[in-house]
Order: sequence, then C-alpha cells, then structure tokens
Amino acid sequence: MSVELRYRPATPDDLPACERIWIAGINDYLRPMNQPEVPDDNPGLRKLHAHALATDPERFCVATRDERVVAFGSAIERGPLWFLSMLFVDPAEQARGVGRSILSRLLPSLLDGRVLATATDSAQPISNALYASLGIGPQLPLFGLVGRPRPDRPLPALPDGVRAAPLELGGGPEVDALDREVIGFEHPQDHAFLRDPDRRAFAYRDGAGRLLGYGYASVAGRIGPIAVRDAALMAPVVGHLLRAVEPRGASAIWLSGAQNEALAAALVAGLRVDGFPLLLCWSRPFADFGRYLLISPGLP
Ligand SMILES: CC(C)(COP(=O)(O)OP(=O)(O)OC[C@H]1O[C@@H](n2cnc3c(N)ncnc32)[C@H](O)[C@@H]1OP(=O)(O)O)[C@@H](O)C(=O)NCCC(=O)NCCS
Repeated sequence: MSVELRYRPATPDDLPACERIWIAGINDYLRPMNQPEVPDDNPGLRKLHAHALATDPERFCVATRDERVVAFGSAIERGPLWFLSMLFVDPAEQARGVGRSILSRLLPSLLDGRVLATATDSAQPISNALYASLGIGPQLPLFGLVGRPRPDRPLPALPDGVRAAPLELGGGPEVDALDREVIGFEHPQDHAFLRDPDRRAFAYRDGAGRLLGYGYASVAGRIGPIAVRDAALMAPVVGHLLRAVEPRGASAIWLSGAQNEALAAALVAGLRVDGFPLLLCWSRPFADFGRYLLISPGLP
C-alpha cells in the first residue's frame, strides 16, 4: 500500500468500479454471517449510481490508489435534505479512515438548516457508528419484504370513493405539492428517473378528483415510492399495488416501523421478511414516514 490515496469527483467511467466495490463491500460482511451474497449483476444499482452522478455530480466522490478506484461515496440534496446514498470502501482498505474521509468531502461545509440522513444496514456496526458519530443517528427500522400475496389471503382494499388511475410518469405539479406536504420537498428529477417502460404509477383520487396519493410498482417487482395524504391510505395502496402489477418474479418492498398496518397486511398476505432490517438515520425529523415510502434505501 505504498502509493498515496487520492480523492476526486467521480466520472461516468468510474461507475463499473463503484459497482464492483459495492458488491465486494456487502459480500465481505454478509459471508461471515452465512447470509446469501448479493448478485453479480445489479442493473438497478447502476441506474441509481448514474442518476446520483447526473443530479449531484459534486457529491459523488471516489478514492483511488495508483489510478484504481478503491472507495466511493455519493450523496444527493433535495430541498433541505442532504441524503447519503452510498458509502463503500474496498474491504482491503477498510478501517483506515477512508470512509470518514470521503464522508467529510460529501457533507455540506455549512449545515445552513439542512437535515442529514441516510439508510444503513443494521448488521453493519462500522457504518452505524460512523454516521451516529456525526449526529446522523438510527431512528426507524425498514423491513425488506419479498414474495407474492397468496390468492387465498386478503389484502386491504381501497376505501369506497377512492379510485386508482394511471399517473402520468414523471410526476407534475400536484405530485410536487403532495411531496412537499409529506416529505418537505419536491423532487421532480427523481420522478423523471422513475419513468421507465417496466414501471407503472397510479394516482389515487377522491370523487372530486383530488389527489389523495400516488404509488409506483414495476414488473421487476419493486414497489415504491408511495405518498399518501392520509396515513390510513398507506396499507390499501400497498394492497392495490401488490395486486395491480404482476411482477416477473417476487414483489419487493421496504416497509418501515411507521407503517404498521401495511407491514401487518403484507405479512398476513404471505410476504416474508428478507434479511436484516435497515435503519433510517437522520439528524432531525424531516418527513412523515407514516405517509411516505422511499424510492429505495439509496434514494428518498
Ligand atoms: C462502512 C464503511 C464505508 C466505513 O469506511 P471505513 O474506511 O472502513 O471506516 P473509517 O475507518 O473511515 O471509519 C470508521 C469509524 O467507525 C469507528 N468504528 C468502527 N467500528 C465501530 C464500532 N463497532 N463501534 C464504534 N465505532 C466504530 C472507527 O473507529 C472509525 O472511527 P474513527 O474515525 O473515529 O476512528 C466501510 O467499512 C465499508 O465499506 N463497509 C462495507 C459496506 C457498508 O456497510 N457500507 C455502508 C453502507 S450503509
């Protein structure tokens, strides 16, 4: 390890190396726990990295040794929220200050009213300790649920008077207004990112046509994001999305401890908890998670 470590902004050419470090970093701590390893091919991860680099190029940093990428981190800013999307260090380079150093380059130099937040794996003491030492403390568990609802099991139905119709992919002013109400910021760039032929989006409206919520589901099985004006609509929307889009394989959804009814309904319908929970961490509350389900743990 004689060659000096260097830090620089990432470029699109770095993304394949970032994906390799992500895989190596996760498998390195899953293996000793006899947990299944992450797959070699992660198209969703590649899209997420490219999106974070496109929207927040100044917050995507790599560390190199002898021109080789050995660590990377990315954060995004949306309204008052600074969100750490990724932080991964090659296992051979861990525990020597590289992670903390990248983090210091991604964090805003002045807080200026910002909220700092991220999602971590509860099974990872290093990242949990690192973020908590910066005041980004664990607040809310997220369970990864996978599977398909059994046909003989009930799922919550949409209440009378609430109807679902296709939502134009890409969002729009009424989606932005709902996001501001529920999570405190609008993020049209992320709704644009979700525009994909494999993904369906639904608008939930009352009889007068007022938008009560929206929800996304893809044929790859991923459910989310979801935003609802009234927390009581979260479980029915999850139920609707599980039935409305038939995935190629299993459905997958991250449900938090703020969504008890949806969590219970999904479990009763037959979905299973997969792996360890994640922890949503933040420096101060910023969103109503009873009414919001993330795009993914790497993108709020
Ligand atoms: C998490 C990760 C990015 C941290 O990077 P790193 O270079 O290994 O970590 P650093 O050496 O910069 O810092 C770790 C800090 O946590 C502290 N720490 C580690 N384990 C700890 C524990 N069990 N309790 C308290 N503090 C702990 C270290 O002492 C160090 O603090 P210091 O700078 O005050 O000494 C890296 O280990 C990694 O890639 N892990 C696998 C992937 C992963 O989990 N990524 C995070 C996704 S949420």
